[in-house]
Amino acid sequence: MYRLIRPLLFTQDAEKVHELTIKALHKFGGTGLDCLYSQTIQDKPVECFGLKFKNPVGLAAGLDKNGECIDAFAAMGFGFIEVGTVTPRPQPGNEKPRIFRLPEAQGIINRMGFNNHGVDYLVEQVKRAKYDGILGINIGKNKDTPEENAKDDYLACLDKVYEHADYVTVNISSPNTPGLRNLQYGEALTNLLGSIKERQQTLGQQMGKQVPILVKIAPDMTQAEVEQVAETLIQTEIDGVIATNTTLARDKVAHLQYGNEMGGLSGVPVRQQSTQVISQLSNALGGKLPIVGVGGINNAESAKEKFEAGSSLVQVYTGFIYRGPELVKEIVDAL
Ligand SMILES: Cc1cc2nc3c(=O)[nH]c(=O)nc-3n(C[C@H](O)[C@H](O)[C@H](O)COP(=O)(O)O)c2cc1C
Repeated sequence: MYRLIRPLLFTQDAEKVHELTIKALHKFGGTGLDCLYSQTIQDKPVECFGLKFKNPVGLAAGLDKNGECIDAFAAMGFGFIEVGTVTPRPQPGNEKPRIFRLPEAQGIINRMGFNNHGVDYLVEQVKRAKYDGILGINIGKNKDTPEENAKDDYLACLDKVYEHADYVTVNISSPNTPGLRNLQYGEALTNLLGSIKERQQTLGQQMGKQVPILVKIAPDMTQAEVEQVAETLIQTEIDGVIATNTTLARDKVAHLQYGNEMGGLSGVPVRQQSTQVISQLSNALGGKLPIVGVGGINNAESAKEKFEAGSSLVQVYTGFIYRGPELVKEIVDAL
């Protein structure tokens, strides 16, 4: 079905199609109309950071930023769903146009800038979902929060989502929020993760529930930087890491239409770079914490590469835009 409608969707503006799809999935999710996209996928259970996943293929953050379509994505057979990035207060994001398809490269460039309705709205959506599988909530900072106060935004989000999440992702790797990626380095990283870990323990005691904290990192790092991040993750006892977000590199797409648009590049052009970061992380972490591999997965083979590089779970975004729900089934079937 997706194969049939995709050519039509791709003639329209990318963000308009996204908005319409989200609206439709929001309405259809959890109703009989789920049959339009639902599929039965065999269980391939995986246990990771103390959680049981029915299969290791998840939806990456950014597609369902406000958590409005959880039941619809569940019907497509994902083994886990990550919603967000959400910020403490609603914000409009960057000016449009801010999302560009690069079909020749099976890529996307986006500079959305954390457009979202705010954490309170997201929590309401999560509460109304019927989904009982693994749900991750990805948190970030508002654009107008000064870099030195970033921690307050992450803690404010953590406080509100903790009770409703199976895991929480700390997103410090979006290229579209000025200064955000600085949080990946040195003392800024140690301080941020130290505070988050402390709050995780407090909330865990209050609610009698231990919710794993994952950190999502960028692919644009040297090996030394990846090793430094790995050391900090171990030191601060973070539960897992998601690698990677989108890239600032343009070498593979500079010759294409929209190839030099500002923002983060995803899809096939980031695949190799994220796999390399996963391998480096895997070596540096020595199995001490699990890796969720994401970046350029568009078939079973590219998912296999991520597992071989050291990922325990994988996520898809751009490949899903190009292939639709059949991608999830193809990867799970091949496991
Ligand atoms: C339009 C778009 C919006 C995204 N928004 C977010 C986001 O809000 N938070 C986040 O952590 N990652 C976000 N991402 C990054 C994806 O989750 C993923 O890490 C990245 O695109 C690489 O995977 P892919 O090649 O399968 O797309 C976004 C990606 C795209 C294409």
